[in-house]
Amino acid sequence: MTAPTSSVGLALESGLRARVAALFDEGYDLWDRFDIKVRQKSFHPFVAADYDVVLEALLPLRAPGLKFLEWGSATGIITIMADLLGFEAYGIELDSSLVGHARDLARRNGSEARFAAGSFLPSGYRWRRNRDGRLGTIGNGPSGYLDLGIPLDDFDIVFGYPWSGEEPMMLDLMNRHGRADALLLLNTTTGGVVSYRAGKVITGSTELLLGSRSTTVLPA
Ligand SMILES: C[S@@+](CC[C@H](N)C(=O)[O-])C[C@H]1O[C@@H](n2cnc3c(N)ncnc32)[C@H](O)[C@@H]1O
Repeated sequence: MTAPTSSVGLALESGLRARVAALFDEGYDLWDRFDIKVRQKSFHPFVAADYDVVLEALLPLRAPGLKFLEWGSATGIITIMADLLGFEAYGIELDSSLVGHARDLARRNGSEARFAAGSFLPSGYRWRRNRDGRLGTIGNGPSGYLDLGIPLDDFDIVFGYPWSGEEPMMLDLMNRHGRADALLLLNTTTGGVVSYRAGKVITGSTELLLGSRSTTVLPA
């Protein structure tokens, strides 16, 4: 197993830390190969998140029995990491070839993470802010929730890595179809992972757990 190369994840016991570090290394290798094979030839919305930053965001949220969902799970690294951290972890990804990679990685890493090939948009969801319903890089397909057999409002924590400008749509989706007390974690390219509950930005680990206070309101 690969030795951890950074100071992140120090709160993890060493065996698990080594497994997570090896998973991240494999994830970045896969991403490099995907970039050369696919993205340098034509546009594809898959860009890998900074896995260390997402790990740091998930560590304080670990608790027994929590259901975690990744919207647009690509090669599955974040969903598999969530499973290794003890969450009941699921990913939904539109590109079925990426779902194949994710399932293979999960099997080889002894992970029970589950993946659906489909859309994280529930059937019938329409982004009303744009008159034509356009969703940026977010594609259309059959709802992945049907495949998982779990509706969006059953998840305690939902993670997404939106392209710039897609955050309001993800907040709207969570607001309309997520559970009111669930956490939405959005990875931003500039500000790390931002946590929302009921459309409001929350800060600090106590608020993360109890959902008691807020600093910003859902964009109008
Ligand atoms: C920015 S990438 C994020 C990848 C991964 N979550 C990560 O953080 O490394 C967005 C992913 O969402 C997928 N995607 C786009 N539209 C989708 C949809 N409607 N349902 C599910 N996945 C979608 C893309 O194929 C792409 O893999």
